[in-house]
Amino acid sequence: MDYFPQALASGAAFCNRIEEQKRLRNNLIESRPTLLVSPRRYGKTSLALYTINKSKLHYAQFDFLSAVSIEDVEQIILNGIGKLINRIEKGVKGALKLATDLFAGLSIKLSSDALGLSVEINRKPEKSATSILSILERAEKLAKKYDEKIVLLFDEFQRVYQISNDYAVESVIRPGQTHLKLLA
Ligand SMILES: Nc1ncnc2c1ncn2[C@@H]1O[C@H](COP(=O)(O)OP(=O)(O)O)[C@@H](O)[C@H]1O
Ligand SMILES: [Mg+2]
Repeated sequence: MDYFPQALASGAAFCNRIEEQKRLRNNLIESRPTLLVSPRRYGKTSLALYTINKSKLHYAQFDFLSAVSIEDVEQIILNGIGKLINRIEKGVKGALKLATDLFAGLSIKLSSDALGLSVEINRKPEKSATSILSILERAEKLAKKYDEKIVLLFDEFQRVYQISNDYAVESVIRPGQTHLKLLA
């Protein structure tokens, strides 16, 4: 057991943050959007994932650190939802069927391999913001279908406004649009 991981702290390597866990947990239960802000490496991502995992809620994680364009943001959101679908529907067939239903009407390519389902943009949409909104609305549909809360974790969220020259994309991701958002 590595008690001092260089990457995320999870399991027995995660310590303290009792008050923060409590507040975050309450926000998750009450579907309150939460913004975590701190300098790098203070433990935002670890805290978010640790608390979400403990809550047993389904979640999608989007890490925008590597995003350099709005298309990247879109693809990262799709990947996150693809992984969420894999966790909800463990079998390949079930995951593909769920994704087909969910993404109907969007220009999206679905495939599955040993790593599970993967979701890709088929052709570049004209307006990314519209398409991102539409993808996020599908996540909300998923929550309704299973009658469960789904946590959306937007990590390194500042990348979105660093790369977009208008607020269109940021405003569709901002809290208040879907069931629950958690920004880290
Ligand atoms: N609660 C914690 N207990 C122990 N180590 C932690 C805890 N939170 C974070 N760390 C450690 O601190 C470092 C940064 O954590 P990370 O979650 O990546 O921070 P951030 O997302 O704020 O950049 C990692 O090495 C991680 O293992
Ligand atoms: Mg982080």
